[in-house]
Amino acid sequence: MDVKSKILIIGGTGNIGKYLVEASAKAGHPTFALVRESTISDPKRAAIIESFKSLGVMFLHGDLHNHQQLVNAIKQVDIVVSAVGGDLVAHQVKIIC
Ligand SMILES: NC(=O)c1ccc[n+]([C@@H]2O[C@H](COP(=O)([O-])OP(=O)(O)OC[C@H]3O[C@@H](n4cnc5c(N)ncnc54)[C@H](OP(=O)(O)O)[C@@H]3O)[C@@H](O)[C@H]2O)c1
Repeated sequence: MDVKSKILIIGGTGNIGKYLVEASAKAGHPTFALVRESTISDPKRAAIIESFKSLGVMFLHGDLHNHQQLVNAIKQVDIVVSAVGGDLVAHQVKIIC
């Protein structure tokens, strides 16, 4: 049986991340996006949030700077992909610590 890995994308609403989320979902992986609560309710992000919903993407509320939220999200998946940008690149170490 073909078991698909569960994939979490951090930074999934970004320029690069949105393509990763779409590709993962379209490949049939249970796909999760770590999204800050402020992003979910941001009108400028409404279109991308709706497109993710239509692909069956599951949202996990969280922030790269919130350790407990990160742990809760990571525990639910098999694979984590980070697509955060700019100043956050150095903070990606929080994903493995
Ligand atoms: N863009 C390009 O053409 C390009 C080309 C080659 C390589 N890259 C590399 O790809 C990476 C991503 O670039 P990008 O242009 O896609 O970046 P971006 O558009 O700025 O996206 C950043 C993502 O990180 C999220 N984010 C910001 N702060 C966060 C936090 N505290 N906790 C969790 N998520 C947070 C953003 O969420 P919100 O939606 O809430 O802001 C957004 O989804 C970078 O390392 C960049 O160097 C980019």
